[in-house]
Amino acid sequence: MVTDPSNFRRPSLFVGGDFSDANYAAIRAILLARRGFDLGMYKDRCIKRRIAARIRGLGYSDPLPYLDRLREDEAEVDLLLGALSIHVSQFFRNPSTFFSLERQVLPELIQRVRALGRSELRLWSAGCAGGEEAYSLALLMAELVPVGMRVAILGSDVSEGVLAQARQGLFPPARLTEVPPHLLDRYFRAEGGQYRLADEVRRTVTFQRHDLLAAGDYPPADLILCRNVLIYFSREEQELILARFAAALTPGGVLVLGRAETLLGDNRRIFQAEWPTERIYRCLPDGHG
Ligand SMILES: C[S@@+](CC[C@H](N)C(=O)[O-])C[C@H]1O[C@@H](n2cnc3c(N)ncnc32)[C@H](O)[C@@H]1O
Repeated sequence: MVTDPSNFRRPSLFVGGDFSDANYAAIRAILLARRGFDLGMYKDRCIKRRIAARIRGLGYSDPLPYLDRLREDEAEVDLLLGALSIHVSQFFRNPSTFFSLERQVLPELIQRVRALGRSELRLWSAGCAGGEEAYSLALLMAELVPVGMRVAILGSDVSEGVLAQARQGLFPPARLTEVPPHLLDRYFRAEGGQYRLADEVRRTVTFQRHDLLAAGDYPPADLILCRNVLIYFSREEQELILARFAAALTPGGVLVLGRAETLLGDNRRIFQAEWPTERIYRCLPDGHG
């Protein structure tokens, strides 16, 4: 018997652009209500593409049944957030960037701070997720910092949830694959299938909620790492954030962006690329606000 072709529902290729505003708003409302996470601050197109990929990956060709599932299935809320890779991080992510920081940037900043007669070096991981980036800096500084110099490391994020995790200093092994073995031996101990970072390193990092889009000055810093955060913002927002980083950096301060990020607009004149492949930029003296 030949099946009536009208019974066939051709799976359409559902892509991010097919999202109606109402469906996107419904997903945003669920994530906000259940996890306190507001998608509103992210570039719609980028996030919609990732949500569509998750929905397709589960075999749905239409967002509506997926929405029903999301309403009923708590685990799927976390799986979706994970798929958006909004909070993904790793210790020593892009190891060659940390190699440049360890060998060149940090020793040079230490010299600079000393020459200015200051006793404190200020480092800021902006958009720090679970703290892996801020703690990677802390691990490097535990080995580098000279006697008599204080290191203040700030890890900030818009999400209180990830900051609470960061403060615990407990990480699954998958986050630690790039930690150099001597640092792993010295500063981590196994605890129930995870790894606990030593108190002496944790103490050097302060975690604080900070929204890069909110009004107000950014905290002053000698080094700012803001990696894999700008990608979520519109071009205008990125330009504004970069200008505010320039104002927050001390003279000769250094900015590090993620591999998929770059300077935009007037910021190309304010910063000079020191290691372009590593996205390491120095703020020029007249770049300060
Ligand atoms: C992909 S993670 C990057 C983590 C880390 N910087 C790295 O590269 O491994 C992006 C982080 O940016 C944070 N974020 C998003 N919007 C933000 C905002 N407006 N202000 C501060 N942080 C924000 C997210 O909560 C998330 O933890």
